[in-house]
Parts: sequence; structure tokens; C-alpha cells
Amino acid sequence: MSHHTILGIDIGGSGIKGAPVDLKKGKLSGERMRIDTPADATPDAVVDVVEQIVEAFTDEVGKDSPIGITVPGVIHHGVVTSAANIDKAWIDTDADALFTKRLGRSVHVVNDADAAGVAEMHYGAGKGKKGVVLLTTLGTGIGSALILDGHLLPNTELGHLEIDGHDAESRAASSVKEREGLSWEEWAERLQRYYSHVEALLSPDLIIVGGGISKKADKFLPLLDLRAQIVAAELRNQAGIIGAAWYAKNVG
Ligand code: BGC
Repeated sequence: MSHHTILGIDIGGSGIKGAPVDLKKGKLSGERMRIDTPADATPDAVVDVVEQIVEAFTDEVGKDSPIGITVPGVIHHGVVTSAANIDKAWIDTDADALFTKRLGRSVHVVNDADAAGVAEMHYGAGKGKKGVVLLTTLGTGIGSALILDGHLLPNTELGHLEIDGHDAESRAASSVKEREGLSWEEWAERLQRYYSHVEALLSPDLIIVGGGISKKADKFLPLLDLRAQIVAAELRNQAGIIGAAWYAKNVG
């Protein structure tokens, strides 16, 4: 066990994933554990799953090390204030206090896309990049992390921009591609509309595309026509876990 190894846990709309992270390398230092997100993903139900994951890794990370946990919602000083893709009971839950009490150790809670953004900036596609970098995660919803010269502006929630009268993620998330059976070309049209709008608002220098679907980036990124450079996340869907661990260690 090394003090560079911190447990990161990523709570998503479909799975709750955890793994010890080697923060020197920015890599998982052991097998990842994944448990389906409970159908009723209330804070209590989710804390039960998180506890199982923590127990499974206690030998590896020790009993006292801090833990980083992502939540797919706005996190304001540890309190969850939005819940688009998770049970509404999360709203106004002090997640930091809830996890800290249950797990009996220091916990840092962060928005899932913000965690992924920070991880990509430190260890992945954004490493060393100056200027405006936007990371988006395409999954159950659309998450965003906005970074200027390496500094994150948290909770930007650009998946909820209203575009053509729709909540953007309800048209362009990868879950929508699956649900509506869209081809890569059809989905890319929606992504084009989304990213052009975001580009008009923020003029990012670099857009990093994360989420599980980024494994197949070659199927859709070449179909997009943007001024900004747009690339796949290098840490793929491990970015949330790695960023959560980074937060626990560095922001605590
Ligand atoms: C939530 C964000 C989250 C994103 C990705 C959105 O619906 O509002 O907080 O980052 O989904 O999970």
C-alpha cells in the first residue's frame, strides 16, 4: 500500500464503479469493481453500494486514507443541488456528510464530469494544455467540465443547455443514440448541433469527449466539423474514478 494510492468511486446512471488509483501515474492500480446502480438510486441505496466497494478495497488503500466520490449532479460545497439522472431524493442531500459518516473516513464529493475533466488535464488528453478546454462526457446524460489554463470552473452543466427547445442531453447523450436506435451518422448530426452551439458560446481551444462511448470515437468524431480541435478522452471511462481520487488527495 502506498500513500499515492487513493480509492476513487464513480457513481453513474447505470453503474457504480470503484478502483484504487495510483496518483503518481494517473492509472488504476488494481482491478475495477462495478455494481449496477440500484433501480431506486436514493442516497441510502447508493451509500450501501459504495460501502461494499470501499470494503472490497480496504486492504489495498488502508482504513484511513481519504476517498473521492463522484455524483452526477451539481455539488455545492458537498451538497447535491440537482439530480437529472439520479433519484430526486439526492437534491439538498449533504453527500459529503452522508458518505463521511457512513464510511468513517474523510470523503471528497465532486461532480462526475468535473472529476473526469481534472483527470484528463492531469494525466490525459488535456495534459499541459493552456487556454479554454472543455470536456464533455457522453453517457446517460451529458456532463461538462470547463477549464481555463488548468483551472476548473465547477458545475457548468452544459448538458442542460436548451437547444431548439430541448434539454440538450435529451437529444444528444449516447443513451439517446441507443434508445432511439440512431446510426452513427444520425447521432453525429445531433452532436454537430450541440457542439456548434457550445463552440459559439465558449470558443474552446480544445474539446475532449469522454464517457464509455469515447472508446468508439473513430466512428463519430471524424463526422464533426468544428473550429476547435476535438479529441477522445485518453482515460476513457476511468477518468471519473481517477479524478475523484485526485480530488480526495489534493482538495480533500
Ligand atoms: C447532470 C450532470 C452530470 C451529467 C453526466 C447531467 O444530467 O446534470 O451533473 O455531470 O449528467 O452524468
